[in-house]
Amino acid sequence: MSESTELESRRFPVPEQLAARANVGPEVYEEASRDRLAFWARQAERLTWEQTWDQVLDWTNPPFAKWFVGGRLNVAYNCVDRHVEAGHGEQVAYHWEGEPGDRRTITYAQLKDEVCKAANALLELGVQAGDRVAVYMPMIPETVIAMLACARIGAVHMVVFGGFSADALASRLDDSGAVLVITADGGYRRGAASALKPAVDDAVSRSGAVRNVVVVKRTEQDVDWTEGRDLWWHDVVDRQSTEHTPEAFDAEHPLYIMYTSGTTAKPKGIMHTSGGYLTQVAWTHWAVFDLQPDTDVFWTAADVGWVTGHSYIVYGPLANRATSVMYEGTPETPHRGRWFEIIDRYEVSILYTAPTVIRTFMKWGEDIPAEFDLSSLRVLGSVGEPINPEAWLWYHEHIGGGRCPVMDTWWQTETGAHMITPLPGVTTLKPGSAQTPLPGISAKVVDDEGNELGDDTTGLLVLTEPWPAMLRTIWGDDDRYVDTYWSRFGREVYFAGDGAKKDADGDIWLLGRVDDVMNVSGHRISTTEVESSLVAHPTVAEAAVVGASDPTTGQGIVAFVILRGDAEQLGREDSGDDLVQQLRQHVAKDIGPIAKPRQIMVVQELPKTRSGKIMRRLLRDVAEDRELGDVTTLTDSSVMSLIKDKLPATSSSDD
Ligand code: WT7
Repeated sequence: MSESTELESRRFPVPEQLAARANVGPEVYEEASRDRLAFWARQAERLTWEQTWDQVLDWTNPPFAKWFVGGRLNVAYNCVDRHVEAGHGEQVAYHWEGEPGDRRTITYAQLKDEVCKAANALLELGVQAGDRVAVYMPMIPETVIAMLACARIGAVHMVVFGGFSADALASRLDDSGAVLVITADGGYRRGAASALKPAVDDAVSRSGAVRNVVVVKRTEQDVDWTEGRDLWWHDVVDRQSTEHTPEAFDAEHPLYIMYTSGTTAKPKGIMHTSGGYLTQVAWTHWAVFDLQPDTDVFWTAADVGWVTGHSYIVYGPLANRATSVMYEGTPETPHRGRWFEIIDRYEVSILYTAPTVIRTFMKWGEDIPAEFDLSSLRVLGSVGEPINPEAWLWYHEHIGGGRCPVMDTWWQTETGAHMITPLPGVTTLKPGSAQTPLPGISAKVVDDEGNELGDDTTGLLVLTEPWPAMLRTIWGDDDRYVDTYWSRFGREVYFAGDGAKKDADGDIWLLGRVDDVMNVSGHRISTTEVESSLVAHPTVAEAAVVGASDPTTGQGIVAFVILRGDAEQLGREDSGDDLVQQLRQHVAKDIGPIAKPRQIMVVQELPKTRSGKIMRRLLRDVAEDRELGDVTTLTDSSVMSLIKDKLPATSSSDD
């Protein structure tokens, strides 16, 4: 993908009506560079604080930042109550649509009542400020209500994507010390009810701290029940009062933990706090999408289980009093026009999604979106991986009708909010480039020693000043926080893990991860995590995993495994197909279906350097069916021909 970025030279100027009246104009960059902290303080004033701050930023102990020191606010009040108090109670907060076609409309007034009821229920169950509450849910309104109820009482939510396995949930419950799990009997995906409760039962049986499991009835499938521990949401929430007085918490009070894959097998609990996070998600949502709360219909087509959902389905849009769409299911259910039908029905004006989905739509063909009225759209967004210019141009033309600017937003779970992106009323767009750090954000491209590179060079992306929505630590592991992000170039420079190129104009083009992290359909998966899952299987002696480029998902997971002596026979029978399937299922069960390798190759040996490091570069060459690169540092260069000979017999890909 990075090669094609060199070729794309088309430019898209700011549409006239946006240039004239967008929320944010070009002067904002200069304003922020004059006084960065004053700029962020002005954005914080868009929120309602019970107590204003004494100091915008305390960076005396880097990399441990404190933003809006001394300030106090309630995040849920800012997202819900204040809009009702200002007379917008009847405005729709969410047009929700279930996959089977059921619909719910939730106004800000209704959302306030539901959040208060859920907050009262949590209090009745003994949940206190600072306690961790796990949320393992389908994409239904109760998921948002549960998150806001936690925020309202100062409990720390820890949402686990519903597609993750019982094992993944168990390790997150354990690491976070969650006392309560909010889940559902199941949710709808690809036309069928898929269960969630069994995974919770399994995970909770292995984790000490969980006292209660609250279950939303969604699919009405049968569930096992543990008396005294399990409670139906409708039993415990519905009878509560719709009144609850929000308490203000410190700006640095933890808001949530979100686990993400790193370069080791153990996921990291990224911790976000309240005041700075809400300031930056609210401002970026308003500025980057040019949100007009009275007229826009905003849709982030992602799952709430990822940071994109936290920041741009829940906190940013609600803080800005947006009307949003929320959709439970997959784009092809029951037909490939489902998303376009939704845009048409609710007159969606801003759509935010991932390149992998756009490439899937491209594959399905432009005739499908052409059947629907998409004329309500005015701004488009992209997130999750570099968007290749072909996909950008297709998105612009066939979804955006050639009139909607595409915001390619670079950010991470760790950054909490947008960091590098064009602005719709300011930036002349370059398809494939995220372009410019936002006002108040300082990003640079550096070489291996940390020296800033000039324009037209390739290096590593770093962030050189703290920002309000930054992660504050890795839950329970300050050392790992420092080591992972703030040690490569010193304690004041954040190492993002992405390669980047600056072009002759100084615009930034992201080139993908430089560490052992894969990006599959915009989701981060660690090669090490998949490797350790594979070697945990009794038949596997050694495993190496690489991300091979994939035309639809960005990268696909390709694993090379060496079998144990006693399993080798198995590997030879039926060219090992059964075993390969078994291993793929094993990883899916262990981590989640998104981590299931696209392909597993059984090999006799792995290419290693003399110091014993697996040469993933060569494995990637094999996986991508390329001529091998330099093999001179291998201990045994014949290993590669052995691997290549094995290729067709043991590959597998059934979905
Ligand atoms: C990694 C972060 C941010 C929410 C979704 C993913 C890649 C993300 C872009 C973009 C190029 C991108 C980076 C980053 N990434 N957005 N617009 N252009 N790359 O969050 O799971 O924390 O992953 O996704 O590699 O480091 P995440």
